[in-house]
Amino acid sequence: MTKTTESWGTRVGLILAMAGNAVGFGNFLRFPVQAVQNGGGTFIIPYLVSFLLMGIPLLFVEWSIGRYGGNRGFHSTPFMMQSLDKRKVWKYVGVFGIFSNIGIASYYTFMESWTLSYLVHSVKGTFTGMSQEGVVDVFNSYVALDQATLFPLESLAFFVFVLALNVFILSKGLSGGVEKVAKIGMPLLIGFGIVLAIRAITLKSGVDGAVNGGSVGLNFLWTPQFDSMWNPKVWFAAAGQMFFTLSLGMGSIHAYSSYLKKKDDIALNAMSAGWMNEFVEVVLGGAIIIPISIGYLGVDRVVELAGQGGLGMGFKTLPYLFAQWGPWLSVVAGFMWFGLLFFAGITSSLAMGVPVMGFLTDEFKWSRLKSSIVFGVIILFLGLPTVLFFNQGVFDEYDYWTGTFSLFVFAALEVILFSWFFGMDKGWKEINAGADIKVSIIFKYLLKYVTPPILIIVFIGAIITPEGNDWTGAIHSLLSGNGWIFDSGSLVGKIMNSGLYDQLAKATSPEEISSIKEKILLTNLSRILLLALFVAISLVVRKAYRRHKKEGRGF
Ligand code: PHE
Repeated sequence: MTKTTESWGTRVGLILAMAGNAVGFGNFLRFPVQAVQNGGGTFIIPYLVSFLLMGIPLLFVEWSIGRYGGNRGFHSTPFMMQSLDKRKVWKYVGVFGIFSNIGIASYYTFMESWTLSYLVHSVKGTFTGMSQEGVVDVFNSYVALDQATLFPLESLAFFVFVLALNVFILSKGLSGGVEKVAKIGMPLLIGFGIVLAIRAITLKSGVDGAVNGGSVGLNFLWTPQFDSMWNPKVWFAAAGQMFFTLSLGMGSIHAYSSYLKKKDDIALNAMSAGWMNEFVEVVLGGAIIIPISIGYLGVDRVVELAGQGGLGMGFKTLPYLFAQWGPWLSVVAGFMWFGLLFFAGITSSLAMGVPVMGFLTDEFKWSRLKSSIVFGVIILFLGLPTVLFFNQGVFDEYDYWTGTFSLFVFAALEVILFSWFFGMDKGWKEINAGADIKVSIIFKYLLKYVTPPILIIVFIGAIITPEGNDWTGAIHSLLSGNGWIFDSGSLVGKIMNSGLYDQLAKATSPEEISSIKEKILLTNLSRILLLALFVAISLVVRKAYRRHKKEGRGF
């Protein structure tokens, strides 16, 4: 067994670190956009049902697998999973728990670096007096690396700086690095979030140029509309958001809880961190971007903006709207908004580093410093394509495969492993060992009979989503012998690049045609790179496994 000196300092620190892991761009940028794209009030019910039927049960499972594996000397998912069941295949399923973290960190740290640069620009007053198009142009040129903003190649420099900062904090370990950042960052983030949310919901129409009061946006988000709720698309989106925001199916919760002691509580800790994430997402994340944007731009325009794919909204729209609040308030708002995003980002990107470092220190006996530097180098190498070819779709491609696809596969397989192979009776004992609250027995049955089928259905749905998400139409078409047309957003459509080929068919100018062809090429290349990453990790895991066997340690 690997001796480890790592551990969490305090319980509060652990909960804040876990909450920091979960609270990220998902809460402030992805959630509002997903909610708007899926009809506002229609989204929230599927979302909450997903939290109860998948979110909470999976939190219990991941915390349990982590503590169980950690107590056997494993701090990353491949061997944790195999310690639950002897079949060799589990360690390859566990590869997802390293793969996703590397893949997500490769684009997430780039985004994290935008927040820091935008913070500097807000304080410098770059956006003051700019037109809305001007602010959008700043963003576009920033990610295209084609214009000096603060200085030449600013976006590249901020990316490297943020990555180095992550490496530095990771090298300080859990209690000395990650936990400290969470203890400072999370309270500040919540404080900034509350101030911004109050400002947003008390926005009055006619004041500071706003056309709607803050309540218009809130009503749009919170008035339940039952009509499109039966559209599977809304359910897939809600389930996907639940995974991303809680960091489920990624291996990072496992890694954090692998540093718990045998009798440490799981039940209450998991609930505290999970509910804290939901508070930040639903209450704060829902009360900033949408009410402010709708306040100035109206519902229709915001729906349109969200439809254009939307993580950029917080960067393209908000700085302009803040600038309407006058010189000093706009600086304060910009500082708080980008400061909040920065803390949300860094406490999450650290959580992507810990599983990778856990694997390296376990298997190669490397020091913390060496492992953190190796992590940094890997992310630099894999992150550069997302920085250099952002506009060619590489960033989105990474997000799809590592931030959506992998999560479903991994989560579905881990619940099956836990409930059916490890066995739910043993599993239930694990969840309850050391528990400071009584967990309702309902979860035992949910985990065995409800969560796995739901995950499988959601996954199959994502593979075969029909064109336009029109399920009834597609079933009719199939039954009448006209076949099934896949949506370009379905897994099948993605693999075939059908969205890009549609664009190509419609393109007229030679420039347009060559730019789409370039996108197709880069999309394919990024897939090959990600596949190679998965294979490479699997080979390292296989080698490590052989060594375990030779040394007689392990399962
Ligand atoms: N949950 C984080 C968010 O909402 C993302 C994340 C992914 C965190 C992977 C850790 C690991 O942004």
